[in-house]
Amino acid sequence: MPTAVNVVAGDVTNFATPALVVNLFEGVTHPGGATGAVDRALDGAISALIADGEIKGKLGELTLVHTLGRVLAKRVVVAGLGKADAFDTGSVRRVSGDVARFLRRKGVMGFATIAHGAGIGGLDAGESAQAIAEGTLLGLYKFDTYRSDGNGSDNDGNGGGIEAVTIVERDAGSVSTLAAGASVGVTLAESTMLARDLVNHPANVMTPTRMADTAREVAEAVGLDLDVMDRDRMAEHGMGAFLGVAQGSEEPPKLIVLTYRGDPDNPGNNLGLVGKGITFDTGGISLKPAANMEAMKGDMAGGASVIAAMRAIGRLKPKINVTGLIAATENMPGGRAQRPGDVVTAMNGKTIEVINTDAEGRLVLADTMCYARSLGITRLVDVATLTGAMVVTLGKACTGMMGNSSELAKAISKAGDSSGERFWELPMLEDYRELIRSDVADMKNSGGRQAGSITAAMLLREFAEDADWVHLDIAGTSTATSARGHLVKGATGVPTRTLAQLAVNLAGLNGGLTCCQAH
Ligand code: BES
Ligand code: MN
Ligand code: ZN
Repeated sequence: MPTAVNVVAGDVTNFATPALVVNLFEGVTHPGGATGAVDRALDGAISALIADGEIKGKLGELTLVHTLGRVLAKRVVVAGLGKADAFDTGSVRRVSGDVARFLRRKGVMGFATIAHGAGIGGLDAGESAQAIAEGTLLGLYKFDTYRSDGNGSDNDGNGGGIEAVTIVERDAGSVSTLAAGASVGVTLAESTMLARDLVNHPANVMTPTRMADTAREVAEAVGLDLDVMDRDRMAEHGMGAFLGVAQGSEEPPKLIVLTYRGDPDNPGNNLGLVGKGITFDTGGISLKPAANMEAMKGDMAGGASVIAAMRAIGRLKPKINVTGLIAATENMPGGRAQRPGDVVTAMNGKTIEVINTDAEGRLVLADTMCYARSLGITRLVDVATLTGAMVVTLGKACTGMMGNSSELAKAISKAGDSSGERFWELPMLEDYRELIRSDVADMKNSGGRQAGSITAAMLLREFAEDADWVHLDIAGTSTATSARGHLVKGATGVPTRTLAQLAVNLAGLNGGLTCCQAH
């Protein structure tokens, strides 16, 4: 059962729950607000621990206090919020994820929390509740489909998990704002968890066909149109670059198109989201080494985040037309596989010399971007686990961003400020173009070792043509190596929440996502 997020009006010192979460900023010696009220009801137990130096308020610090009947809550957790000047919704997401896993390890089935930072922390109540919902649900995420003991990667022994988190607010007038924020947070967290599931499933299950089936379920659940193109229809459109990759595999490729019409009278008000959906990347004839090749089941993380973002957008209903296009195929070294040196022709007539069959992502994206343009899309964001070089450049702290529109890049950065997912722009200097110059075709698909992430983007640029376009390389950020805050080991679901926020922001709604829930 998924964890429910509830909001109630009440007094935290008089609220029955297995555990109550309060908080403390770093350096505060005399807690105020709800934490102060709980401290007084506990005869100063919290301030005594602060005076002792056991509680410092550092971000990530969790202190468990047993209440022994002095308040109705069985336990109190004091969660450090860190320094007040560094505090934002990211701190709330971090604390909420850490607390939820901490209490799950204690065997707690449900807990209550105050709305961190709504008040002294300067956050809007809705923002705080949204971050609590996201942090809690995403932090508790487990992928246990194939585990007969019901445990995920953290193996904490509490397979049943936490049934509900309740945000307790003293001011009854704030409850509806908190509830609206929590509801947006649940939508975004559930969508992100869908992306994580798609990535975590093994490649023998999560085939292009299965991705298309999932897109169909999403389309039916939230009311989107769906079109799934097969090999024959792709051939009719002249998608030689996409089909060149797909020809080495027995699994039928799928170009999945999800359409959300939020502003049908204004076709110019549009956004296209293009996702790389390589359900397994062996490298093809340019075969990858065996070590860590299993991680290439996650080479469809871009496509997964696009399906997931379309789900969120279908729920949040911003006033903009959004099309999600997922290029799904395997990259296999079969008897019919393409060879290094082959030349393929993309849908727009441009030719590409395939130097390395392992540089397949840019080939499938090239045709998918052409197709998006043929649908009239003038603003494009593509998301792909595109280059190993990206992991070397930026690691896992942020997603690499490249493109032809600084305005769209800024809009993505701004959406990232709300979602807590981070983006860093790399330079698309003309100098890099010559690295993918080919002797026999319009370009080659590999530029060698120099600036590997940027030369990949330079190839994609040839297919964006006059659309505003930004490329997000999530090779590093699509997976996490350990649990922290809202992230757990395995798939992250990045950048699902940012893409949904981007659609909402572009729709011209100011502020957070909470405002479009009401309409
Ligand atoms: N899917 C990989 C990129 C990747 C590597 C993602 C590691 C996540 C983790 C991509 O298809 C690929 O193989 N890229 C090559 C390109 C090269 C041949 C020009 C790479 O990065 O080595
Ligand atoms: Mn590859
Ligand atoms: Zn790949």
